[in-house]
This record gives sequence, C-alpha cells and structure tokens, in this order.
Amino acid sequence: MNSSSELLNFIRPICLEAGKILNKSFGEIQYIKDKSTAIDLCTNADIESERFITKSILKKYPTHSIVAEEGSDNKTKSDYKWVIDPLDGTTNYVHNLPIFSVSIGLQYKNETILGIVYNPAADKLFYATKNEGAFLNNEPIKVSSSKTLSECILATGFPYTHDKYYDASFSIFKDFYDKTQGLRRLGVASLDLCFVAMGRFDGFYEFNLKPWDVCAGAIIASEAGAICSDWNNSLIPFSGSRILCSNPYIHKEMLTVLNNKKYSLFYDLK
Ligand code: IPD
Ligand code: CA
Ligand code: CA
Repeated sequence: MNSSSELLNFIRPICLEAGKILNKSFGEIQYIKDKSTAIDLCTNADIESERFITKSILKKYPTHSIVAEEGSDNKTKSDYKWVIDPLDGTTNYVHNLPIFSVSIGLQYKNETILGIVYNPAADKLFYATKNEGAFLNNEPIKVSSSKTLSECILATGFPYTHDKYYDASFSIFKDFYDKTQGLRRLGVASLDLCFVAMGRFDGFYEFNLKPWDVCAGAIIASEAGAICSDWNNSLIPFSGSRILCSNPYIHKEMLTVLNNKKYSLFYDLK
C-alpha cells in the first residue's frame, strides 16, 4: 500500500495545475453545454481539467480506478479509487463568480483516505489524509465551537432538478432559517464542506449530491473535527444522496430537524 503522504505529494501539484487550467479560462469560456437539464452546465474548462487530472493519475497509477464527473472513468478492480470533480461550482464559474474548486478524493478499499480541494481564484488549498488532520495552505484547521443553532450560520445547496423533493427542500431551509443566524448557498458543495472544516460555517446539509461533490470535502471536514453523517445519523452514503456535516456540538440539533418524518421522502434517494 502506498503511504497517504506519498499519495498526497503526488496529487497536490496535479490539483494545483488543474486549478490553473480553470483560472486560465475564467471569464473566457469557449463553450457551454447543458447536461441533465438546461441549468446543469458543462464548459470546456470542466473537460480540460478532468482530462488533465485523469491522464496524470493514469500515467503514474495505470491500474487505479477512477470515477470522474464528466465521464473519464477507469473501471478496474484496484483497491484505489480516485473520485474527481474537475470543476465544482460550474454555475458560479459561468457567471464569473470566483467561487469554484477542483475536488479530488481517494478511497482505499472503499474508505476515503485522502481529500484535496483547491479554490484557484483565491489560491486556497484544503487537504487532509486519514488520521492526520486537515490543513488550509499548510496551516492546520478546525471546526467552529458554536454550541447551539441560534449562534450558527449554515450552508446548503439545491439540486438542478425541480422534482418531488423541491418543496420539501425549501421547507427544511425554512426550519433552519427559523433557528439560526442564517443560511448561505455558495453553489460549491466541496467548499461548503471545507468552510465547515475551517469554522467559517458551523454546519452544512444537502441532498442529491454525487460522490465527487462530497468525497474530498467530507474527509477534510472530519479531520478538522466535524461529524459527517447521513440525515438519520447513520454512515454518510458514498453516493452523496444525503449529507449532514457540522461541528460536534450542533450535530444533534441539526439531526432533529432533518430526521423529522415529514422529510422521510428523501430516503427514496439511494
Ligand atoms: C454542484 C455544486 C452545488 C450543488 C449541486 C452540484 P457542479 O456541482 O456542488 O453546490 O448544490 O448539486 O451539482 O455541477 O457545479 O459540479
Ligand atoms: Ca460538483
Ligand atoms: Ca463539476
């Protein structure tokens, strides 16, 4: 088995370089296409960044498995699986908002052992390896210490599809809005998680995300002292179907809101 620090040293320059690719096209997008819906977008930068990352990984580790948002998967039987969002926050990117990231997680035997998230517009590099803490630009980070929701600011997001979960998702938003100092919707799940990790947000919840939205950010937040779970406190699903991530003090209070039986429909999501 490769050591986590060796793998981190390998992936760090690749993640930074992918960030440069995003910065280069920022404000000068050559094409945009719709994916699942007219608001689920993909740009030339998503594709270029993903090609660069997957090519670089396969050059060094040709047998490793890869799951990547824009489809450059490498399905193998390797114990190692890289989980890649080459541009998290594409809608922000398209609208020239400098809040987006490159997000890369690594699993060994289905357990996440490394996560790295880079916001190139602000030159902020978050990373963590299992049991070794979380860092932002080489400085250790930790979660906030707010004890009750009334002292907190939370983050969330909404999926592109406006389906049977749509109204309920705004009802959850309202429940938290009534109990906190506010909620924010950055549009970049990986950075939402990193902002919980550094104590900027006290908690984050979302549903219908994908593995590449949460894999890296969840280990960074956990290593910074957050609790990451499903909405009923069971293990966080790899699929990203539901996630709750918060400092340890408010996790129970957030669970109480999300575990309400009026939200049981969200368990249809696998
Ligand atoms: C999106 C962002 C956003 C979340 C969406 C994701 P993308 O990823 O993470 O915060 O609310 O559900 O799809 O499409 O910009 O990579
Ligand atoms: Ca994403
Ligand atoms: Ca993406």
